[in-house]
Amino acid sequence: AQLERQKLIEAHEYAAKFYHYLLQNTEHGREAKAYLKRRGMSDKLIDQFMIGYAPERGDLLTGFLDKRGYDLRLMEKGGLVASRSDGTGFFDRFRGRIMFPIRDREGRMIAFAGRILHDGQPKYLNSPDSLLFNKSRVLYNFHEARPEIRKSGRVVLFEGYMDVIRAWDAGVRNGVASMGTSFTEEHVAMLRRVADEAVICYDGDDAGQAAALKSAAMFENAGMPVKVVLLPGGLDPDEYIGKYGPESFVRDMVNQPVSAVKFKLIFLRKNHKLLEDEGRKDYVLEAVRMIAGLDSPAEREFYLKELSREFEFPLETLKQECFEIRAAAQKNRPAGDKLGNRWNNGRNET
Ligand code: UTP
Ligand code: MN
Ligand code: MN
Ligand code: MN
Ligand code: MN
Repeated sequence: AQLERQKLIEAHEYAAKFYHYLLQNTEHGREAKAYLKRRGMSDKLIDQFMIGYAPERGDLLTGFLDKRGYDLRLMEKGGLVASRSDGTGFFDRFRGRIMFPIRDREGRMIAFAGRILHDGQPKYLNSPDSLLFNKSRVLYNFHEARPEIRKSGRVVLFEGYMDVIRAWDAGVRNGVASMGTSFTEEHVAMLRRVADEAVICYDGDDAGQAAALKSAAMFENAGMPVKVVLLPGGLDPDEYIGKYGPESFVRDMVNQPVSAVKFKLIFLRKNHKLLEDEGRKDYVLEAVRMIAGLDSPAEREFYLKELSREFEFPLETLKQECFEIRAAAQKNRPAGDKLGNRWNNGRNET
């Protein structure tokens, strides 16, 4: 198995160079290259991230690997090639896609993500989990970002590969992304070992914000401080940079994240009709419930005050409400249990 892993890594490095060469130096990659240029990807970036292109024609990589003596059954296990259902041979698994090589934490190439060049499904095709690759344990760009993550104590978590790359180009060198939307406990553990704080910078659309809420809760449950960047107009980081430029992205977005509490309040607000009495009341009560889960009395006070100002609600009433929620939570919990709220990192003891 060790030898198989070694062979597969070697094959991935070959494949990455092969796709990269096709993109940069051949007619096969011309259209993909023009597309990347339109999306603001310089040659330097393409080289640095070893971005490539897998042509529509479905046998180039297979032929290349075969010629070099790679066992195509093994290549199939690693997700580089696929076999015909009638058993007559193998063909390339990635076709007509822009290829992003994925490295493990030691920098070895272990998988690919392929973005479709034209319309079609799925938009991104990832390598399947294999003896090399486990999606729930790998973060895109982690190996490259690790020095800056350690130095700054901070990791910036993105949703997409393109976001990581464009942010890198803008000077954000501590950015990583999970493979697809699944951000896992294992990812949190991996980041906690190198960073003191996480900044979530997901897409500004509803899906991205809902995902940010989930990921934020995961950091909090692991006791890791987390903040959230709010991108305007449903933009993703790549689009924001295209529209407002790299300087603004760093200055106004990455360096201005809001606290997790603030983010949750904003999120909550979006889901209530604040112009209607019922919606407003519901929002205030849910907000107080959330604030009641906070560890720090000063923080609770701060957010209750904000809430009271915003809705012209007497602060004393909100405080009383908050107090009662906390008292009820204390009473109901089994001895020794925490306040039992997923927002409080399980550290409430008073
Ligand atoms: P998005 O749909 O936001 O794509 O998915 P994107 O990163 O902005 O890509 P561009 O700008 O259109 O090229 C965010 C992430 O979700 C995963 C990928 O990791 C993607 O980067 N994803 C998305 C998939 O794994 N498969 C899909 O079909 C779509
Ligand atoms: Mn998205
Ligand atoms: Mn996106
Ligand atoms: Mn995008
Ligand atoms: Mn509600």
